[in-house]
Amino acid sequence: MDDSFLLSGGPLLFDRLEEQKSDSLLQLIALCDADPRPDKIDVGVGVYRDSGGGTPILRAVKKAERLLWERQETKAYLGSQGDARFTELIRPIVFGEAGAADERIVGLQTPGGCGALRLGADLVTKANPKARILVGQPTWPNHGPLIECSGIEMVPHPYYDPASRRILFGEMMAALEKAKAGDLVLLHGCCHNPTGADLSAGQWAEVAELVERRGLIPFVDLAYQGLGNGLEADSAGMRLVVGKAEQAIVAQSCDKNFGVYRERVGNLFVKAQSAKAAQVVYGNLLQLSRTMWSMPPDHGAALVHIVLEDPELRADWNAELKEMCVRIRALRARLAAYDERLAYIDGQNGMFSILPLSQAQVLELREEKGIYMANSGRFNIVGLSDDNVDIFAAAVVEKMDG
Ligand code: LMR
Repeated sequence: MDDSFLLSGGPLLFDRLEEQKSDSLLQLIALCDADPRPDKIDVGVGVYRDSGGGTPILRAVKKAERLLWERQETKAYLGSQGDARFTELIRPIVFGEAGAADERIVGLQTPGGCGALRLGADLVTKANPKARILVGQPTWPNHGPLIECSGIEMVPHPYYDPASRRILFGEMMAALEKAKAGDLVLLHGCCHNPTGADLSAGQWAEVAELVERRGLIPFVDLAYQGLGNGLEADSAGMRLVVGKAEQAIVAQSCDKNFGVYRERVGNLFVKAQSAKAAQVVYGNLLQLSRTMWSMPPDHGAALVHIVLEDPELRADWNAELKEMCVRIRALRARLAAYDERLAYIDGQNGMFSILPLSQAQVLELREEKGIYMANSGRFNIVGLSDDNVDIFAAAVVEKMDG
């Protein structure tokens, strides 16, 4: 190693690094944990909470842990693809039975949806170092850093206006219309993060038509399937777009719909123009995974595998996922009924909505009332318990009144 710069009195290696700001969402976890107020309200990071405020392990997952402990005989390596049967079981959930049989689609296990996004982005830059991706604003705060880290040029366009609480569909379509053939388009499959504002069926159909006509490549982030309107409804729009596109990428996560957050469980699926091209893609995905994490962690995927192969556990997982959905919808309805300025929350999906509050107001709510939401005004609806939903709504409305 050439360390002459050390000897010549030049800057030390790590002195060359700039200080980084902590990730704003992850920082919220620590800030809220450190707040001693017993009545603090944590609506920051996106984890499901039950009516008592806890994030319990799903019943089926807990049973699968016992079965795994009893049955698993080795922890020997599986390979860069991870648990291939796990990926095979997820395929029809994402693409439906017909889509799952499409040989132009290949998939492999990744460390969560984030790992899938990163792997997909790296695949793109490997194939085209000059790739561009159109990204609707606002989006999940980690999308930008992750995409840019892979070297893809991010081209932002409007998606949602928090002040008027509406999707800027015309502006979005105009931006997509101007894209070049071969450009990628980032789409939230369902439960848009951070806004909760999903495209309607008609809007998905228009996007699908445009993507096909202009030769764009959809890059779908499917992190919350099943937490909006059910597994099928939540993937219908995305299936339409992927079905029409010649090439597509889908980053899928089980972290939320199986409640296995810290286990990091996901898949990357890529649709190529032919079954033969898909095999070349698959080979490249294995090679890229090998250079990043070598092999994905097994435990969480092994649990999902067990749940999906056992009819009883699978039925119970489905039932519990529905219970989560019902609770989210009930909280949305309750907030919407509190004040007409919150009525829009009822028509949105998933864990998040954005409140029309300034960053200063968000910080005031944190200081004054111990309410922890993202600086953007995004809050995790299901972070509210039955006891504090009205307290939260009152504090927000008071702030909106100035
Ligand atoms: C969130 O948006 O809160 C979650 O997706 C957690 C994360 O990693 O940011």
